[in-house]
Amino acid sequence: MLPITASPYTRPEMFHADILTVNNKWTELSKHGKVLPLLFDVTNGGWISILKSETVGRIQRHRHAAAVTALTLEGVWGYEEHDWVARAGSFVYEPAGHIHTLYVHPEMSKMTTVFHVYGPVIHLNDKGEVSEVEDVFTRLDKYAAHCKKVGLSDEYFRSLIR
Ligand SMILES: [Fe+2]
Repeated sequence: MLPITASPYTRPEMFHADILTVNNKWTELSKHGKVLPLLFDVTNGGWISILKSETVGRIQRHRHAAAVTALTLEGVWGYEEHDWVARAGSFVYEPAGHIHTLYVHPEMSKMTTVFHVYGPVIHLNDKGEVSEVEDVFTRLDKYAAHCKKVGLSDEYFRSLIR
C-alpha cells in the first residue's frame, strides 16, 4: 500500500456560512432576479452561484458553451424550451450547446437555485444574434465592482477564486 498525504500544492478549502441570509453579497441580475456568487473557477473557466427570483419573469435566452447543472432549493421554474418544471429538490443537467430561456413559474412566483456553470454563456437577442458573451472573467469583473460598491473587502472577493 502506498501512503498518501494531503498535497502541499492544493488550494485552500472554502466555507460559506449562512449564504442565503447575507444581503450585501447578492448582486442584481435584472429586475427579475439576483445572484450570489459562491465560486469563480478561473482554472476551468466556470462558476457556481445561486440565482434567486421573487417574481414571475424570464431571463434572456442564451446558449451554454459547456455543461450546466441546477439544484433547486425552493420555488418553481423551468426553461421555455423544455416541458419539465423544477421544484425544490429537482436536479437539472444540460450538456454544452443547449439554448434555453429560464422562466419563474406562477405556481409560486419565486425560485432559488444553485447553478454550476462549467463555461461561457452566450446571450442572444430576439433575432437569435449574440448580444453578450459572459465568461468567468467578465463575471469576476462585475462582482469586483459590486464588492467595491457595497464595501466588501478585496480579501473576501479573492477568497471566492480558485
Ligand atoms: Fe442557462
